[in-house]
Amino acid sequence: MLMALSIVLAFIVGMFAVRVVQASDPYVKTVLSLDGDSVTGHAIFQINCAGCHGLEADGRVGPSLQGVSKHKSRYGLIHQVISGDTPPMPKFQPSTQEMADLLSYLETL
Ligand code: HEC
Repeated sequence: MLMALSIVLAFIVGMFAVRVVQASDPYVKTVLSLDGDSVTGHAIFQINCAGCHGLEADGRVGPSLQGVSKHKSRYGLIHQVISGDTPPMPKFQPSTQEMADLLSYLETL
């Protein structure tokens, strides 16, 4: 009984911890505080992402990303790139500046 209770408790605390980490994630915070350069972002995109999303992000294996920033928040876009939550899209580890540049490019689509 005590065992079950502590498992439930650990689970709740765990969920809470995940939320706190997301909201105050230093990586995300830094990215959002930087000025991204969409031209550099476009170059990063062509090297890392275009194989799946098309050279101009118009879709191939991966979906077209035209207008993607209208249905995904900035946090959602960063998460999409670094999480690896939706295979086959891999998990990327861009530097914060690279991520800021990418984000700024994605927002021009
Ligand atoms: C191996 C192929 C592949 C590569 C490489 C790839 N993606 Fe993706 N991407 C996908 C697939 C497949 C999805 C759809 C995932 C899903 O929602 O199930 C996706 C989804 C996305 C989405 C969400 C689209 C939406 O409408 O919500 C964004 C944003 C995105 N990718 C950006 C990128 C960026 C930026 C890069 C490069 C850093 C990248 N992707 C590299 C395959 C890829």
